[in-house]
Amino acid sequence: MKVITCRNYGASEELQLEDWEIPTPKENEIRIKNYKTSVNSGDWRIRKPDPEIARLYFGLTKPRQPVLGISVSGVVDAVGKNVTKFKVGDRVFGSSGMKMGAYAEFVCIPESAVITILPKEISFSEGAALPFGSLTALDFIQKCKIKENQTIIIYGASSSVGTSAIQLANYFGANVTAVCSKGNFKLVESLGAKSVMDYEEFHSESHKKNYDIVFECVGKSTIKSNLKVLAKGGVLVLVAALFKEMFQAGLLSLTKGIKIKFGPIAETIENLELLTKLTKEGKFKVVIDRSYPLEKMAEAHNYVEAGHKKGNVVIDILD
Ligand SMILES: NC(=O)c1ccc[n+]([C@@H]2O[C@H](COP(=O)([O-])OP(=O)(O)OC[C@H]3O[C@@H](n4cnc5c(N)ncnc54)[C@H](OP(=O)(O)O)[C@@H]3O)[C@@H](O)[C@H]2O)c1
Repeated sequence: MKVITCRNYGASEELQLEDWEIPTPKENEIRIKNYKTSVNSGDWRIRKPDPEIARLYFGLTKPRQPVLGISVSGVVDAVGKNVTKFKVGDRVFGSSGMKMGAYAEFVCIPESAVITILPKEISFSEGAALPFGSLTALDFIQKCKIKENQTIIIYGASSSVGTSAIQLANYFGANVTAVCSKGNFKLVESLGAKSVMDYEEFHSESHKKNYDIVFECVGKSTIKSNLKVLAKGGVLVLVAALFKEMFQAGLLSLTKGIKIKFGPIAETIENLELLTKLTKEGKFKVVIDRSYPLEKMAEAHNYVEAGHKKGNVVIDILD
């Protein structure tokens, strides 16, 4: 089978096409014939790595798992003898989580993973694009405990997380203001943003409006500028916080009692199933920017790393 490996940390050239034996599923595993995957912002960060401290988790001198990628979307083509949840022929999708391994034509994964049936109304491409940003947005949106008509400002609204957060905040009854570049105004409005704002406006001193929730998706604005527009008693979400911001946020929570949500999300099967239901019913739409064939993985990484994709980037593995 075709696999893209990353044998050393570094630039996208480290991503190489290799030919591997098709794996055999263990007793509790299903094997997925993987039609599509996606390249997410987390993927290039692990490849580099960025930050360097990520080596402690992913491997000190080189990636311990040479096959990156977390999104799987395909058909079950073999099952281990203890598997009860899925059968051969099921259309499935989901996340392999920190085990990764999704940049491959076949992926073996425990049936207990965050994997579910892909309804026929959802394409394999949408299945591959869904898990990363949507599970992240949903987890943080749930932490905000949104009440009807609360105001939320979503900074970095055109990102994978942002395009999902707009729709989910709307679904839970919030009034959404989206912050992005002018070129993405139409996109975010089509997803349900009631007002739109350019980055520059958000950072300007004249922006005095207060929001119940400030949802920072891309780590491009400071905690100080976010707090400037947060209502008293409101919630600040820092999706992309790295160690420095986490430390700062922890300190602010402790000393000033400000509600700040940050840190790694918990990917859950319940949330994947909720997203599947909303997508099937037409209440949620995963945004796909573009697709690349598996062989062009390095190009896909360069595009995602440049930081200007709209929503998600899909990789076509099999037809
Ligand atoms: N906490 C967690 O567990 C968790 C989970 C998943 C992801 N994350 C983090 O969440 C972040 C977002 O990931 P993602 O994949 O959703 O991002 P992404 O899709 O790669 O973000 C790209 C988007 O960001 C916009 N952008 C760039 N600069 C901006 C700025 N200065 N102000 C506002 N928007 C700007 C770009 O719009 P323009 O082209 O118009 O500039 C583009 O549409 C990443 O840092 C990722 O590591 C955290």
